[in-house]
Amino acid sequence: MKVLVIGSGGREHAIVDALTRSPQAEKIYCAPGNAGIARQAECVAIRETDTEGLRDFALTHGIGLTVVGPEVALAAGVVDVFRAAGLRIFGPTKAAARIESSKEFAKELMAKYDIPTAGFRAFTDYAAARDYVAGRPFPAVLKYDGLAAGKGVVIAATMEEADAALRDMLLDDKFGEGKVVVEDYLEGPEFSFMCFVSGRRVWPMVLAQDHKRAYDGDEGPNTGGMGAYSPLPFVTADDEKFALDRIMQPVADAMAAEGCPFEGVLYGGLMKTAQGIRVIEFNARFGDPETEVVLPRLKSDIVDIFCAVAEGRDARPEWHDFATLGIVLASKGYPGAYDKGHEIKGLDAVGGSVYHMGTRSDGERVLTDGGRVLFVVGRGATLAEAREKALADVERIACDNLFHRTDIGHWALEEITVHR
Ligand code: AMP
Ligand code: GLY
Repeated sequence: MKVLVIGSGGREHAIVDALTRSPQAEKIYCAPGNAGIARQAECVAIRETDTEGLRDFALTHGIGLTVVGPEVALAAGVVDVFRAAGLRIFGPTKAAARIESSKEFAKELMAKYDIPTAGFRAFTDYAAARDYVAGRPFPAVLKYDGLAAGKGVVIAATMEEADAALRDMLLDDKFGEGKVVVEDYLEGPEFSFMCFVSGRRVWPMVLAQDHKRAYDGDEGPNTGGMGAYSPLPFVTADDEKFALDRIMQPVADAMAAEGCPFEGVLYGGLMKTAQGIRVIEFNARFGDPETEVVLPRLKSDIVDIFCAVAEGRDARPEWHDFATLGIVLASKGYPGAYDKGHEIKGLDAVGGSVYHMGTRSDGERVLTDGGRVLFVVGRGATLAEAREKALADVERIACDNLFHRTDIGHWALEEITVHR
């Protein structure tokens, strides 16, 4: 089978890598891909939001399966366009992807089906939102409603901060047409529970945890994620059962009942609070960088799973016992302004896996080409061993414009004080 992967980051590199382990994937394409992906697949220069261009490529190249990475492609309706052309594609329709693209849709669904999450109210009017927030305890959690690449959440410690955020979101139109969800503030460790979902069928993946803050000790600005690991010792088997039976399965059932059955990866961003497991957010796709530590642990043939989901058949993914831990190498300055085009050396000296998040080729050279650049994954019998290997591999990579965290996995490996 010929397979097309849509996207250009570390997540898509990990999907391509998993596909190379399947004897069923005879040829792998990636659109648009990156310098690392190009070592394992044929990259084609089609943008991830060019739904018609992607469809036409799939039709002319006899693609038997397309796998969608990023949310922008889902929100552009790539799944709907492929389905209308009779093409097999792994991912949710635009209507089903609202579980991620619209916070209000997700919150209303959870309220209607009694799925545990933070209490909330939605506002379009600035004055009404401000009055509501002023009458509640702080910190206030303000979420801009719409796709904002993880940047649409403000945890405001004071009314001044909250007011500035509400003005931004509702008056100044910085993000587009404004709607804001105001939520109760929850506390506890967060974790990512991704499930393969095909209508009412739900197959859980192994758990992972992302590290959002830029610097060690969970200090500094929020990012798209600076590292991840799997498994998670602080999430018990009972927690996992609760998350599956009370959150992921009911959401799949609810989506089907609402007439927009979900197909693809349903990502639960969950928090283990003192009151129990609560939903922070849903995504309609594989997480990045969680995918890069989860898919290496997949024992089953990933083509079987993708096809089973796309066709509504039974699939039971099996998993390896080993631990994985990955560290992001990011451009200095990220998540703020940063330079591109710095040469990366030493990639061939690495013993584990390196997934490219933001690179491009320049002849034989590999150059930095994004905020998050590389994701170095170590694997071991324990998380401690996986971290040791990942850190050793990071040292083998030479580039004058990259930085990384050294404490990925600290929730599992060390008792440290987390400053927020
Ligand atoms: P989201 O984009 O909804 O995942 O939010 C981004 C981050 O904001 C989350 O990973 C949490 O760390 C934090 N956050 C979101 N909602 C809440 C909440 N209700 N209480 C506390 N922290 C939150
Ligand atoms: N790692 C968080 C996300 O993929 O949204």
